[in-house]
Amino acid sequence: MRIDIITIFPEMFEGPFKHSIIKRAQQKGVVKINLINLREYATDKHKRVDDYQYGGGSGMVMMVEPIANCIDELKSKNDYDEIIYMSPDGELLTQKIANRFSTFENIIILCGHYKGIDERIREHYITKEISIGDYVLSGGELAAAVLTDSVVRLIPGVLNDETSALSDSFQDDLLSPPVYTRPYDFKGMKVPDILLSGNDKKINEWRLEKAVKRTKERRPDLMDK
Ligand code: ADE
Repeated sequence: MRIDIITIFPEMFEGPFKHSIIKRAQQKGVVKINLINLREYATDKHKRVDDYQYGGGSGMVMMVEPIANCIDELKSKNDYDEIIYMSPDGELLTQKIANRFSTFENIIILCGHYKGIDERIREHYITKEISIGDYVLSGGELAAAVLTDSVVRLIPGVLNDETSALSDSFQDDLLSPPVYTRPYDFKGMKVPDILLSGNDKKINEWRLEKAVKRTKERRPDLMDK
């Protein structure tokens, strides 16, 4: 999979993409993440990518030309499954969306700033708008990192134990059951004995029961699905 991220702050991705699963996925060649600095597509000598809004009002707007030039160049080289704009107005990111995106060959993720991007880009270039939650971030970069992480870990071959993605919270609209590791007894707090029984059937039943209980208590909206 190829993920092209258009941003004015490529350095913001250095932390999230240089560690753990995303790092390993890139090393394995399962995903290629390209950070594209939008300023390189600015059309004036000051490398401006934002300007005042028509109609007045506070806050700058990201200009149409640098973004259009950047996306046009990328589209001349690759076919994209989706051109995604990170925005609080977008569709709420869910595990279902992450699953679907993980089957794609090529995507573009555009990160906005300031008051947002010129509406003409949204109308004519963007094919999908995604929000990571009902709150406003300073820009789309952190949201793009969250989306990328949620998608890349689902690409086959990324996780060592393939079943571990399948038993994630939300994968079947259930939260995950509790998990334990050594020691068995920590200051009198003991691990449930069923987990030491060696009876896989009983252990799976216990995990399902705990997952359902936790989901009912904390996220009854998921049970309604
Ligand atoms: N940009 C700013 N806030 C955002 C959010 N909640 N989701 C996605 N992109 C954003």
